[in-house]
Amino acid sequence: MNLKPETLAEIEEAIPKYPEKQSAVMPLLHAIQKDQGLLTNEAAEWVAVKLEIAPIHVLSVITFYPFFRQHKIGRRHIRVCRTLSCAMAGGAKVCDKMLSEFDTGLNEVSPDGEVTVEFAECLASCGTAPVMLVDDELYENLDEAKAQEICEKIKAEAMQA
Ligand code: FES
Repeated sequence: MNLKPETLAEIEEAIPKYPEKQSAVMPLLHAIQKDQGLLTNEAAEWVAVKLEIAPIHVLSVITFYPFFRQHKIGRRHIRVCRTLSCAMAGGAKVCDKMLSEFDTGLNEVSPDGEVTVEFAECLASCGTAPVMLVDDELYENLDEAKAQEICEKIKAEAMQA
């Protein structure tokens, strides 16, 4: 697998922090996802060899945690909460607005490669529902008009990049 030197260094640094190297599976997966943008079967096998565990164990960790990805995403990662408070406050409409503005479907990479819109479970901000994350930034008390403004901001930032 073709990992950046800094990722390899991060991995070598992480493993000795654990009494049993098998326990380092999470930090290794985080490091590889940051490097590659997703976790392929090849990555799972690489981690399994590195930590001397069965590949199925690594795959079960990848599929259990929603923050690990097995598919490519756009440059910006949009996660709209769909849990009860957000669902009742109109989260689905916000999500539809994001999808139509970027002419894309749920969990897909938009045609310009700019975004992937996904649903997420509770983002721990139920009191300001509906909410969504754009990368690591939380947007609260959303409605379609605010969603539109956020789309315009993302598009403007894409033009500057
Ligand atoms: S239900 Fe959406 S943040 Fe909790």
